Amino acid sequence: MSKKTPVAVYPGSFDPLHLGHVDIVRRALTIFPNVVVAVLENTDKLPLFSPAQRVELIRDTFAGMSGVEATSFSGLLVDFMRQRQARIILRGMRAVSDFEYEFQIALMNRRLWVEAEHVFLTPNEEYTYLSSRVIREVWRLGGDVTGLVPEPVNRALKRLPR
Ligand code: PNS
Repeated sequence: MSKKTPVAVYPGSFDPLHLGHVDIVRRALTIFPNVVVAVLENTDKLPLFSPAQRVELIRDTFAGMSGVEATSFSGLLVDFMRQRQARIILRGMRAVSDFEYEFQIALMNRRLWVEAEHVFLTPNEEYTYLSSRVIREVWRLGGDVTGLVPEPVNRALKRLPR
């Protein structure tokens, strides 16, 4: 495998995908020709959407945009990366509060696989307060998340029983 891979993997829970995530993918596409959005098949007991639904919503959101692929993975991220012959791990960094957690997982991933390289991008400032957790909470309490999530996600949320 060439060490210069044009594929960046953007891993996360994406439950749900919000406009901050979309902004990160758009920015990444100005650097990397291919971005794989990789949904962790975690065991969260109260997810809004199943991993398969999240992948579908990501596909719908980026439909027509070339260079974006959505898939899911389980187990260690670095194993998925090796499988995909990709070594760039893309993550968003919204504020200093994200730093400690991101630094910890970056160092752990590098320990697990020395070729793993993290690239951090900052979203537009209008999205710095967005997180999937906050979106879930606002939605569960009856709030309107229009303008905070992509349209396919907003439509899916409107169909979901609260
Ligand atoms: O959106 P999130 O929940 O902050 O994403 C976290 C994610 C998916 C990037 C991280 O939990 C992950 O990579 N999990 C896979 C398991 C793994 O590889 N763990 C070791 C590094 S912490």
